[in-house]
Amino acid sequence: MQIADRLASIPFSGIRKILEAVDDLERKGRDVIRLEIGRPDFDTPAHIKAAAADALAAGKVHYSSNYGILELREAITRKLSKENGLSYDASSEVIVTSGAVEAVAITMMGLLNPGDEILIPDPYWVSYGPCAQMAGAIPISVPSRFADGFYPRIEDIEARITSKTRMLVINSPHNPTGAVYGKDILDKLARLAIKHNLYVLSDEIYERIIYDGNEHISIGALPNMRERTITINGMSKIYSMTGWRLGYVAAEKSVIEALVRIRQNTTACATTFAQWGGLEALNGSQEESTNMVAEFERRRNFLFAALQKIPGLQVVKPGGAFYFLVSVEELMQPAEQVAMYLLEEAGVAVVPGTAFGNYGEGLLRISYANSYQNLVLAAARMCAALEKCHAIS
Ligand SMILES: Cc1ncc(COP(=O)(O)O)c(C=O)c1O
Repeated sequence: MQIADRLASIPFSGIRKILEAVDDLERKGRDVIRLEIGRPDFDTPAHIKAAAADALAAGKVHYSSNYGILELREAITRKLSKENGLSYDASSEVIVTSGAVEAVAITMMGLLNPGDEILIPDPYWVSYGPCAQMAGAIPISVPSRFADGFYPRIEDIEARITSKTRMLVINSPHNPTGAVYGKDILDKLARLAIKHNLYVLSDEIYERIIYDGNEHISIGALPNMRERTITINGMSKIYSMTGWRLGYVAAEKSVIEALVRIRQNTTACATTFAQWGGLEALNGSQEESTNMVAEFERRRNFLFAALQKIPGLQVVKPGGAFYFLVSVEELMQPAEQVAMYLLEEAGVAVVPGTAFGNYGEGLLRISYANSYQNLVLAAARMCAALEKCHAIS
């Protein structure tokens, strides 16, 4: 029996190897501090859980509209208008999805033709490339370099634009680099997208996990960007709801109609009672989410200071999300080998940058979605392990 040819270009996630090694060590009884994690380590706020439980008890157990429940779409459009300066019609320009990953997948399937090219600043979140490939499109990496604070250079993007280029992916705050795109770069990217008539997929899932008093800017709110921007967001990170599978897409009606035609034939709708929880997430108290971000900022500040003291590591201060992408080039070893060394020697799991595209060599992603206490311990253990390997070399 044969599997589909399209899978030839879609590998297993590069994080898998580390996860398997972690499982193996844990089975042997080793204590591993897991900094490979891509999800907040907090519980979902109780009032959100209660709203979903109430919905379940009230019999909200049937299919919803393919677009999602109207109440949630209305809450989303209110939020987008108030916080992001984006104006969308709740009945025709928003879909609630089963997580932002579905939003990315149906956007690419709905808007890309086989052979179309899609530009992605690289390193990038693991699903952009495979989602493009599932649509038959070709992901084109644009380097975003450590030395540039992981911002892509406009000339690097422009140099890769061809007659087949159809979409540019933007993700700010960024996974895995933690970079936050300010007005300056967004203006330049917007001008480029307009000049070359590109769609912009703007993944804003880490929008609120942003530090130093900075403000998130939605590229879709910049002049003449509404018609070409697909704004994607979700509840996973901001409300620690990764297991609920709730995300959303906002875009012009014609785009949303295309996406709905795909989802009619895939997931049909996001889980109905979860959507009622999502409604409470948006409408209810934001206190716990705000506290979670404050805790992430405290951890980032600690790790930023601690990582700079570790021999062989170089660090860019991330402005958002909950990751550091540190350079280990000084160690002159492949990133995968360094990650395995840290796992085996220090009992700390991190992800080699090579899991995040073509420009991740010499980089490691360190997540701080783990307790402050564990981060203190992990930093000390990584320091000891890398001091030892420095001493050997
Ligand atoms: C940049 C980015 N976009 C989207 C997602 C997917 O999130 P969701 O849980 O909503 O599918 C993730 C999850 O790690 C992410 O890092």
